[in-house]
Amino acid sequence: MYTLALETSCDETSAAVIQDGRQILSNIISTQVPIHRKFGGVVPEIASRQHIEYVMPIIKEALDTAHVSLQEIDHIGVTYGPGLVGALLVGVAAAKALSFALDKPLVGVNHMEGHIFANFLSHPELEPPFLALVVSGGHTQLVKIEGYNTFTLLGQTRDDAAGEAFDKIARVMGYPYPGGPQIDKLAKDGNPDAIAFPKALHEKHNFEFSFSGLKSAVLNYLHTQEQRKQPYDVHDVAASFQKTVVETLVEKTMDAAAYCGMNKIAVAGGVSANSALAAAMEQACAAHGYSFYRPEPVLCTDNGAMIGCRAYYMALEGHFADLTLNAKPALAI
Ligand code: KG4
Ligand code: ZN
Repeated sequence: MYTLALETSCDETSAAVIQDGRQILSNIISTQVPIHRKFGGVVPEIASRQHIEYVMPIIKEALDTAHVSLQEIDHIGVTYGPGLVGALLVGVAAAKALSFALDKPLVGVNHMEGHIFANFLSHPELEPPFLALVVSGGHTQLVKIEGYNTFTLLGQTRDDAAGEAFDKIARVMGYPYPGGPQIDKLAKDGNPDAIAFPKALHEKHNFEFSFSGLKSAVLNYLHTQEQRKQPYDVHDVAASFQKTVVETLVEKTMDAAAYCGMNKIAVAGGVSANSALAAAMEQACAAHGYSFYRPEPVLCTDNGAMIGCRAYYMALEGHFADLTLNAKPALAI
């Protein structure tokens, strides 16, 4: 079975062809990062216009690379939320047009579920049930994956997402968007115990997150040092901030795993590319006797392949959309 999948929820235009849910035949990703970099973050209107320009050539490239024709495609999967409304609409409109013109079933995919399903692409042996920690630029969520189409949201962030804090702090320190990879790199040469930053909501069995207090604490530290004309070590700030985020994510994930009786843990989303998070999560899982899963780096950040994998498992159970499918910027799991 061939799935054609489209992803245009933020600043990557991507199309992929997936065979039988887990085999990537093509995964073409056109990133707009250099375009948005000069503004310090994603500009929604520019993102939409770029998607319009790139979506059809990228679909063609995905089909050509996979050596699969449009007629051979069994269904079309597309991200319809959460994300930037104008950006989502481009993918949804393209997928609906193809579905109508070719008379192929349409599958509307939740972007966050797509991130989780990236793990099935990198780990052929992985099957539900497992616990997923999804950490991206817009979301931080703990999700119980009971079956391929049965999920329970255990908790999410009350304010900022983990990725948002990485991006904002890097920006204030003068590094380009997106800041996560920059902080990751700087932290490698820093002392994680140099500065004590606060942790929020760390009571047992509290699966909600809050990163706005931590973000403010780091920004206050930077401003205070600047006002006092005291230099600070960017490596130490990055390492201390990152350690606080990583410890919070690992502690809550381990608590949730024990609470739900899960012995398999998967991470997903852009921040799961973070090397310190991967190392700490792997170590904690080993200590508890849990199996740890993480998508390969290119599948951690936004891509069409993960949307194709999710669409396949929805199609297997007949979860199709019709042509009334619309973008849902605040779509929940
Ligand atoms: O999942 P994603 O590609 O897009 C959203 O759906 O939001 O995640 C992007 C986020 C950005 O905040 C970026 O800074 C962060 O993932 N990120 C990282 C790393 N690589 C990407 N954060 C920390 N460490 C990294 N290595
Ligand atoms: Zn994403």
